Amino acid sequence: MRRFAIIGNRAMAQGKLPLNDMAGAAGRMDVLVRALMSALMTSHGMRRDSEIILHLHGGPGPARRIKFVGSELKGVHAEERAVAGQIGKVIQLPTPARGQWLQRSDGIYDGGGDIESTITEWKDSTIIRLDAAAPRLWSADSAIPQQSKPLSKAVGEWDETEISGIDIAFILSDDKPLTESQLLLENTIPRSLGEEWLQGHLAIAICHFLIDEGVSLNL
Ligand SMILES: C[S@@+](CC[C@H](N)C(=O)[O-])C[C@H]1O[C@@H](n2cnc3c(N)ncnc32)[C@H](O)[C@@H]1O
Repeated sequence: MRRFAIIGNRAMAQGKLPLNDMAGAAGRMDVLVRALMSALMTSHGMRRDSEIILHLHGGPGPARRIKFVGSELKGVHAEERAVAGQIGKVIQLPTPARGQWLQRSDGIYDGGGDIESTITEWKDSTIIRLDAAAPRLWSADSAIPQQSKPLSKAVGEWDETEISGIDIAFILSDDKPLTESQLLLENTIPRSLGEEWLQGHLAIAICHFLIDEGVSLNL
C-alpha cells in the first residue's frame, strides 16, 4: 500500500471552489490537484494500491481532509479541471467533524481533522516525511534493478483488488515548507529524494518509481 498526505497550507477548505483561479483564490489548489493526479494515476490507469489524503488547511472554518482510495475510485480521469471539479463538489458541503469520514462518491471520502489525525490513522504504515535536506530514501548500497520488482502492488479491480507488499506513507507540503510543528511530527522518518527541491508531483513520481522498480529503501 502506498499512501500520500499532501498538506495544502492555504488550500480552501469550504465554499465555492474558483476553478478559474486555482493558484490564487483557491490557495494553490492547483499544486494539490497535480500531486493527487501524480499519486493516483499512471499513463493509462489508476494505481489501485494508492491512497491520497489532501489536507485543506486554508479555511474558512476548520481543517478538512479529502481522501481518494485508488482501489475504489470510479469515473476519475486524468484531466485537471475534472479532478478539481470533484474537489469543488466536496468542499461545498459542511466539513465533517474531526476524525469522521463520510463517503461522498466511489472512493472519495470527506473528513475533518489535520495531518496529526492522518498520522494517527496511519499507525500501521512506515511514515516518511519528505525533506530534501534529510538522509536519502534509498539504502547506500542500493541499485536500480534491471527487472521491476514492485515493493507494493495491486492485482484485480474494485471489490476484487488484492494489495500486497509494504505499507508505506509519504507526507509532502505544497509550495511552502512544513511548519515547525509539522516538522516535529511524531512517528515520521525524514527522508530525501536528492538535494534539489522538486515540485511535489515530481517528488511523488520518484517515490512511485522507487517502489515500482523495487529499489532497496532506507527505512
Ligand atoms: C515544492 S516542494 C516545497 C518546497 C518548500 N520550499 C519546502 O521547503 O518544503 C513540495 C514538497 O515536495 C517534497 N520534496 C520536494 N523536493 C524534495 C526532495 N528533493 N526530497 C524530498 N522531498 C522533496 C517535500 O515534501 C516538499 O514539501
